[in-house]
Formats: sequence, C-alpha cells, structure tokens
Amino acid sequence: MAKQRVLLTGGAGYIGSHTYLALVDAGHEVTILDSFANARQSVIDRLGRIIGTEVDVIEADVRDAHALGAAFAAGRFDAVVHFAALKAVSESVEKPLDYFDVNIGGLTTLLRVMDAHDCRRLVFSSSATVYGVPDETPTPETAEFRGMNPYGQTKIMGEQILNWLSASDPRWAIGILRYFNPAGAHGSAMIGEDPRDIPNNLMPFISKVAKGELPKISVFGDDYDTPDGTGVRDYIHVEDLARGHVLSLARLFESGEGHLVNLGTGRGYSVLEVIAAYKRASNRDLAYEIAPRRPGDVPIYVAAAGKAADVLGFRTEKTLDEMCASSWAWISGPHSGGTD
Ligand code: NAD
Ligand code: WQD
Repeated sequence: MAKQRVLLTGGAGYIGSHTYLALVDAGHEVTILDSFANARQSVIDRLGRIIGTEVDVIEADVRDAHALGAAFAAGRFDAVVHFAALKAVSESVEKPLDYFDVNIGGLTTLLRVMDAHDCRRLVFSSSATVYGVPDETPTPETAEFRGMNPYGQTKIMGEQILNWLSASDPRWAIGILRYFNPAGAHGSAMIGEDPRDIPNNLMPFISKVAKGELPKISVFGDDYDTPDGTGVRDYIHVEDLARGHVLSLARLFESGEGHLVNLGTGRGYSVLEVIAAYKRASNRDLAYEIAPRRPGDVPIYVAAAGKAADVLGFRTEKTLDEMCASSWAWISGPHSGGTD
C-alpha cells in the first residue's frame, strides 16, 4: 500500500502506541496528537527508541479546533486514526458530561477540521460494549445497539454520527472497528498498558497482583451461565489489534468505501482461565477470591470474527498465553510504572 500521512489521535495511549508502531512498520508517516490526559510523556521517548528515530508529536486536546487546524495545515494528512477518548465505564457513570464532551465533542470537532482540510479517511475506535447484553454469541456486527452506560453510549453515538456523515457525503470513507478485550503488550516490553490508578480491567489487575503491587484478584461472580461460572471474554493481543488498523486504513484507500467490523479472535476465555494462563506466564502464585458480580457486567462477549476476515483479511495470530507472557514481560520490566 502507498505511504500515507496519518494523524493518530490518542497515539500515546495503550492501543494508540502499539498502532503507531504498526503503522510506521507498514511505511506510513505518522504524527501523534495527544493531550496526555491518560498517557505518560515517556512513552514518546520509548517509541522513538523502538523505531530508531524521533517521533512526531503534538500535545493538544482533540476538542481544540484551533490546534487541530494548525496540525492539519502543517501535516497535510491523508487520514486519521482516532483513538483519543475517555474509556473508564464506572467513571462515565459518575461524570457523564466529561465523556460526552471528549468522546462526542472531540469527534465532531475533529470531523469538522478534517472536512475543512479535505481529509475524509478515518479509522474509528469503537467497542464491543455497543452490544450491551447481546442476544447472540458469538456476536455479529448486525446485533443491535444497547447502551449500558454513558461510555458505551458515546461509542454508539459516535458510530451513528459517522454513519450519518458518510450518508451525507460519499467522499467520506470511514472504518469503524469494534474491539473486544485488548490485552498484552509489545514484544519489546517497552510499551504496554500502564494505568496510574488501580486498574479496572482484568489483565492489568492480574499483572499488578503478579508483580506484588496488589494483594489478590477479586473474581466478579462465579454464578454466570458459563462453563465455570465466571465471565467469558474474547481477549485480543494488542499487536494483532494494531495490525487491524493498518488493514482498515489500506482498505479505505483501496475501496474508497467505509466498513464496520468486530476485531476479536472469535474465542472466549473465562476469568479463571485467564488467571491460570497468567500464572503459567509469570510463574507466580496468584491469590484470588470469588467476589460478588460487578454491576453492569455482561456474562459473555465473544466476537463473530468472520466479517473482519472477509473485508480486511484480518486474522489474529497471537494466543492468550502470548498476551499473558508479553504483559508480564512489560509489567515486570524496567519501562512500566514510571512517574511522569
Ligand atoms: P488510553 O486511555 O490508553 O488511550 C487514549 C489516549 O487518548 C490517551 O493517550 C489519552 O491521553 C488521550 N486522550 C484522552 N482525552 C484526550 C483529549 N481530550 N484530547 C487528546 N487526547 C486525549 O485508552 P486505550 O485503551 O488505548 O483506548 C483507545 C481507544 O480505544 C479509545 O477510544 C477507547 O474508547 C477504545 N477502546 C478501548 C478498549 C480497551 O479495552 N482498552 C476497548 C474498546 C475500545
Ligand atoms: C473482563 C472480565 C469481569 C476485573 C471493559 C469495558 C468495555 C471495554 C473493555 C472499552 C469480566 C472480570 C475484571 C477484576 C474480574 N472497554 N473481572 N475481576 O468488562 O469486558 O470490558 O473493558 O471499550 O467497554 O466494559 O473488561 O477486563 O473489566 O473484565 O473478575 O478485577 O473479568 O467481571 O468478566 P470488560 P474487564
């Protein structure tokens, strides 16, 4: 595929930083735009060390039309991959306006600036959370929207905005990617998921227990209608996920049309299976206890993965054991948990 100039909003974050490396590896010229609201400054230096050259980065808020306009005037981007968003479900219930402001206000601001600069190729981070509690598992892209919380609602609304925009003007080509549960870290162990507070998500929580920073894992419910009673999720290695964005971008330029796909493996693992896999990877004894169900949790999320294979040629390559091993290499290594 031809080299493109790509603006990566939220490119200093967990998925964005891995996608940065995948895009650079594919030959693209990439600029990161991030407010560092949920990222460390040092990730830029570490990305630079991995690729062996300086990283082009703009510190700005995606709601700042003026800063975005200046970035587009200087960068003359062919496409945008838009990660910048707030993503903590429980926080979204407490502070819904923050979520609508950043996730929706940020999106519409970005779209207006893109339009003004004749840039109409966009890859958008959506989420399996748009399915709420789905009727069907594995869940196909045709399943209906079910908003469960303000965060999920922002992803539904974001998709709807993009669909109306595409319908209004055929020059837009937008790839909507619904991620299942991203996990793991880069093979270099120099970047990975690095929450500043106590993690909400399972794999980063387990990693901190393995490291000895947290005492034990709470397993949220063992009475679901699943094989061992604990919640089942479709964990996808973040490097596979990153590659999905490269394929999505290529498809937008080849076809001139948008697409909507799940990005998952099509296989689910229970909480207890993930703990067992992490034990193997870390060679640590991981203490856990069965705790009450977490409010709003879904019993099973597994992707129907066929459409991404058909439309993008996307197939995952990495296993749950590789997710755990890379997570452990990252979290037990010298580059995670910085203070910046
Ligand atoms: P992350 O928090 O690590 O990355 C988001 C990045 O956006 C951070 O670097 C943050 O500093 C930046 N950001 C936040 N607000 C900003 C603003 N106003 N202006 C500019 N930058 C801003 O999260 P992530 O896990 O990498 O998620 C990336 C995207 O994928 C998000 O849109 C998220 O909703 C979506 N997503 C994530 C998951 C997941 O489980 N991690 C699952 C499905 C979808
Ligand atoms: C996975 C499983 C928990 C923590 C969330 C968001 C979703 C998406 C990804 C962005 C569940 C169980 C967890 C713990 C546990 N984000 N668990 N103990 O809930 O699938 O999805 O993150 O779009 O929107 O809702 O991911 O990693 O939090 O939970 O037992 O300490 O692990 O109950 O079954 P989830 P998760």
